[in-house]
Amino acid sequence: MDVSENGRHLLPKDRSRPPGGPREEGRALLLPSPSPILEQFLLTKLSQREVKDWLQTYARPYRELMSCYRCAMMEIETKFNVLNEELSLQYDRNPIETIKTRLKSPESILEKLQRKGLPLTVESIEKNLNDIAGVRVICSHPADIYQLAEAFLKQDDITLLQRKDYIASPKPNGYRSLHLIVETPIFLHDEKRLMRAEVQFRTISMDWWASLEHKIRYKKDLEPGKAAYLEGELRQCAELSAALDQRMENLQRIAAGEAAVRGGGEKPPERKEF
Ligand code: GTP
Ligand code: MG
Repeated sequence: MDVSENGRHLLPKDRSRPPGGPREEGRALLLPSPSPILEQFLLTKLSQREVKDWLQTYARPYRELMSCYRCAMMEIETKFNVLNEELSLQYDRNPIETIKTRLKSPESILEKLQRKGLPLTVESIEKNLNDIAGVRVICSHPADIYQLAEAFLKQDDITLLQRKDYIASPKPNGYRSLHLIVETPIFLHDEKRLMRAEVQFRTISMDWWASLEHKIRYKKDLEPGKAAYLEGELRQCAELSAALDQRMENLQRIAAGEAAVRGGGEKPPERKEF
């Protein structure tokens, strides 16, 4: 979900318009939404009828594609809600804390296509971008992540296209999360479509770190010394958060009777009241 933690990445104004003009041929231009300004501009050049045709040609396929991605997110979210329901009965606790979904914004889609030198067309979005539909599953413990990911991938309508395990191998800055790119079917009234989505699994502490790291990283124009300090601190915070995840998971396992208390299980010394 490269749209980021807060879901906003705005392009400089002059890059936010599709290149070329309405009469450009042989290329379906990407028009995220028929903005009033663009519509007014077109009206100075074209008749009302031509504007309508133009918007229908380019805006409708985009909206339809986005609607399919929204359906894919709903399908995936439901799968995790079902798993959460079932596992919570089995283990008497919810392995999932929250599920967040987000559709990549038109600005971020344009930015990514431009950055990668890809055509700015609706077909190109579907063919080249894997993270238009994003689902983030926030779990209680690291072990829950692997259990949920395994149960999800075992489902016979889910195809795994890519797996990146930043928990087993954190990024150099300390970022941890399990990323899957999957293909899931959606069933429309007259067809079945396979849609791709990015699913990110994090614990609460991985999510907390990533969210704050994103905000801190986006503070611009830092002098090199300050930037290096922040980088080192963020990495250390990520290590602390990973250690806390392990401790909390161990406490959970002790509480569930799956692990022994370290050090023979002596009671902590009683604190005397003063
Ligand atoms: P893209 O072409 O941008 O999709 O690159 P990629 O596919 O190599 O990215 P990757 O799968 O590593 O990460 C994609 C998403 O993970 C991002 O959009 C973020 O949501 C999240 N992410 C990855 N690295 C970081 C990081 O260092 N910090 C934070 N806060 N989020 C990250
Ligand atoms: Mg990606």
